[in-house]
Amino acid sequence: MTVRIIHKVFRSSPTMEGAGVLVHRAFGLPHVPELDPFLLLDEFMSGNPEEYLPGFPFHPHRGIETVTYVLHGKVEHRDSLGTVGTIGEGDVQWMTAGSGIIHQEMPKGDESGFLQGYQLWVNLPASDKMMNPRYRGVKEVEIPRITKESGAVVRVIAGEIKDVWGPVRDIVTNPLLLDVSLPPEVEIAHRIPVGATVVAYAVEGSAYFDEKRGPHTYEMQGGSDYPHDRDSLIGPRHAVLYNDGDQVTIQAGPKGARFLLMAGKPLDEPVAWSGPIVMNTEEELRTAFEEIRNGIFVKYGKAVSIR
Ligand code: FE2
Repeated sequence: MTVRIIHKVFRSSPTMEGAGVLVHRAFGLPHVPELDPFLLLDEFMSGNPEEYLPGFPFHPHRGIETVTYVLHGKVEHRDSLGTVGTIGEGDVQWMTAGSGIIHQEMPKGDESGFLQGYQLWVNLPASDKMMNPRYRGVKEVEIPRITKESGAVVRVIAGEIKDVWGPVRDIVTNPLLLDVSLPPEVEIAHRIPVGATVVAYAVEGSAYFDEKRGPHTYEMQGGSDYPHDRDSLIGPRHAVLYNDGDQVTIQAGPKGARFLLMAGKPLDEPVAWSGPIVMNTEEELRTAFEEIRNGIFVKYGKAVSIR
């Protein structure tokens, strides 16, 4: 057994997206291919409606799958497949953009105006980039919750833990996605196959994400090793990327911890990425944008105009 240690810690950076939504991006385009098959992780968390109500009006995607997980508030979704849905608290939505989808995502806060959610982009292999698009909403009650004797609670969103399978099963790269809550000082160990890319994102509290406990290399978009206190406890707005091994061991700090844990097998393919389109070659990107301009982007479903 080889316990994975932290390779690098990413600090999320504030980024404006959509029609003016403040998101915190843990990783994205500048980090390709370090997190292969994962492309991007955004956190949207705000108590100020002005920072999220503008939303993400109709826009295209091609070549990726997205997983959206809402913890507070909701996100209303509409797309060129004709789907109309609401992702409520604790719900997950996954979408295969495949050959092309045009959708809008409009966040709303809870009664107190608070919004918190996550969107993960998972790459599609070249062989599936032009597959038919798909959408599925998964309700909170469909997500299995494992409560351990230690008080640790694991919500299995995708992948398997101790023969319990998450409801998000058809993501082509077959990733693992867990939402883990640990009481203070409680430790959890999870086996993950050698060779997989493993990332944890701190949601609440703080934790020691490996047994070595630092010092870690920190990075944020636009600069590495930013000033920080070098405390080996890692808290919200940080993502941890692990070195290889076959197990992760994470121990909550004095106030407990909640984090997302994700793992996936790298695709090892070239990435050509511009905005919402992620393909393998520049030529494929040019084709996609030309098709958007000419109104022939959507191959399956009905055309939706991009405002
Ligand atoms: Fe989108």
